[in-house]
Amino acid sequence: EKGGYEHFMIKEIYEQPRAIRETMSSRLAKDDSHIILDELKWTKQEMAAIKKIVVVACGTAYNAGLVGKYYLESLSRIPVEVDVASEFRYRSPLVDENTLAIVVSQSGETLDTLAALKEAKRLGAKTLAITNVVGSSISREADQVIYTWAGPEIAVASTKAYTTQLVLMSMLAIYIAGLRDTISAERSRELISGLRNLPAQLHEILEDVESIKTFAQKYGFNEDVFFIGRSLDYAVALEGALKLKEISYIHAEAYAAGELKHGTLALIIEGVPVIALATQHDVYEKTLSNIKEVKARDAVVIGIAQQGDEQINKYVDHTIFIPKADKFLAPILAVLPLQLLAYYAAVTRGCDVDKPRNLAKSVTVE
Ligand code: F6R
Repeated sequence: EKGGYEHFMIKEIYEQPRAIRETMSSRLAKDDSHIILDELKWTKQEMAAIKKIVVVACGTAYNAGLVGKYYLESLSRIPVEVDVASEFRYRSPLVDENTLAIVVSQSGETLDTLAALKEAKRLGAKTLAITNVVGSSISREADQVIYTWAGPEIAVASTKAYTTQLVLMSMLAIYIAGLRDTISAERSRELISGLRNLPAQLHEILEDVESIKTFAQKYGFNEDVFFIGRSLDYAVALEGALKLKEISYIHAEAYAAGELKHGTLALIIEGVPVIALATQHDVYEKTLSNIKEVKARDAVVIGIAQQGDEQINKYVDHTIFIPKADKFLAPILAVLPLQLLAYYAAVTRGCDVDKPRNLAKSVTVE
């Protein structure tokens, strides 16, 4: 069943170009002018009445929600809160009939997420589920559902579910912005054509993983690894750190790069690996100055940057380049090297990659 791969996780990492193509298929207008989400039955009036969006999920799906917040807020100009399901449900959330509650869950069975969905419904919110499993409890409970078409995900560590959730979130944001007239035809077209390029670009990353493997082998025995980034890169950093922790048992932390000097910089000493994401042009210079801060403490810095970036090499020890992409879509590419780093670090350390200790694929208890 592993199709010649050593683990389900690496098989699923390699399935991402296809999973993303499937998730987009028939949902992008042929002329790239708009997103087709026939599943959604909202009218323009209903969408105009939405005052707030809450995104609720756990773990990796929560991390996807953080990226979703950025997409939804920038394109639709609706305020978005992202909450961990186990917190949301016990917080007397401020949710009413003018709220859209979006729950994100690969399995569609996560108990806390299901309970949060029920709570949002009880409070009168419109509810939407993004899930990978047709007929799952969450898909049945939500008013409306859009499916990621990632195919079954077997490895405990989520990979293709995350990237397809990001793709769907970006499509949803373009769709909602279209209904609210907050996106220009030009921006919409630009993003949709960017989406179309993703499968080939992901493939390109997967064709050359040697340097990533080497870094994983080299740094796989460090006790602590830090991930830093700004804006969307920060959201991706959180997912990179989670992946590394759960399968390789290396202590990993992700920080908004600008937050480092508010405490965590004290932990950066000689030889500590720092993975610095620098794919977002609007905050690029700021990120570089944070990279200089960690270099000044003799950290070993691996930069993740867009192809064509000629500056980064001057400031980091190694760089992993991702194909050039719109800053919105860069996270969908930038997470791949992080998934691969986690995978090869776990393999180097002899960990049980597909079944990490203490974890279950579907968490149906509190
Ligand atoms: C991490 C991971 C978990 C899940 C979380 C939510 O790799 O897989 O953090 O993302 O348990 O699961 P779903 O998406 O099924 O609700």
